[in-house]
Amino acid sequence: MSLISVCQRGYAKINLALDITGTREDGYHEIDTVMQTIQLWDEVTVSLAPAGAGPDAPAITIECNRPGIPRDERNLAYKAARLFMEKQNIDAKVVLHIFKKIPVSAGLAGGSADAAATLRAMNILFETKLPMSRLMEMGAEIGSDVPYCLIGGTCHATGRGEKVERVRPMPPAWVVLVNPDFGISTPRAYELFDSAENVKHPDIEALLDGIAARDWAGISANMQNVFESAVFPEHKILRHMRDDLLDKGAPVALLTGSGPTVYALFDNEKDADKAFRFMKRFYGSRYTVMERQLFFPWKKNDRFPVRPLNNK
Ligand code: C5P
Repeated sequence: MSLISVCQRGYAKINLALDITGTREDGYHEIDTVMQTIQLWDEVTVSLAPAGAGPDAPAITIECNRPGIPRDERNLAYKAARLFMEKQNIDAKVVLHIFKKIPVSAGLAGGSADAAATLRAMNILFETKLPMSRLMEMGAEIGSDVPYCLIGGTCHATGRGEKVERVRPMPPAWVVLVNPDFGISTPRAYELFDSAENVKHPDIEALLDGIAARDWAGISANMQNVFESAVFPEHKILRHMRDDLLDKGAPVALLTGSGPTVYALFDNEKDADKAFRFMKRFYGSRYTVMERQLFFPWKKNDRFPVRPLNNK
């Protein structure tokens, strides 16, 4: 029996460290980063358009619970659906229902997560059985973070961010995230980086060693994001948020991606709860404050988070 609808989750990520190591001839920047999936996701349902849709119905229709989300090729999920059908010579009309919970333009790869979920869903819906490597090649054409979002977990990414290597998963940890009420465009953040001074670069190798050894001190000491030097001077509130998290006992707090979401990581739930409650009280009336755990979707032998938090 053929399928008419497939739903996939697209998970948000945080950058445990992010370095920019150079500029490239194609206008992109060379990056060196460690990414981690967290328990926050969008749901993308790809359905064949109903038979009565008619010949004039668009090939791709986007429906989304959140207003203001583009419904055309500016949406990475739209791009993913179009690319998939082009490459596979599929002549169909599809409807993408995107149930969005990941904040937009937030440094959490929400758009890339939706594109990745769309590619996975279409591969199932059309029974194309493409290997993950092929989906990741397509993903790289859509956006630099899409290949990572296809596999998720703890990964080391280089190149534009599209060369992804899975590393030993992070030990269990709790994340408190604060997402302010404005977005930062990625190209703008890269521009700001280009003119930033006194940039402190992370030691990615040391971070990877820390993760491999499950050495919490080694991990937290080497988490750093070069975008902080670029965007903190323009958005002073972000530095305040980070410093408040550190004041409340977070062993480490930093910007994720090109921002503006700031997060802190904890090795235990009690300290995370304390910081979460403070941040919620202080910033919660205006900003989105969340508490999550890391997410390891595939590793059987690794310790799973003990009590998965709701995806509210
Ligand atoms: O690949 P993606 O579409 O996510 O990139 C968005 C923009 O961010 C690019 O057009 C570029 O300006 C910037 N970028 C960059 N170097 C990267 C990734 C993105 O300069 N490695």
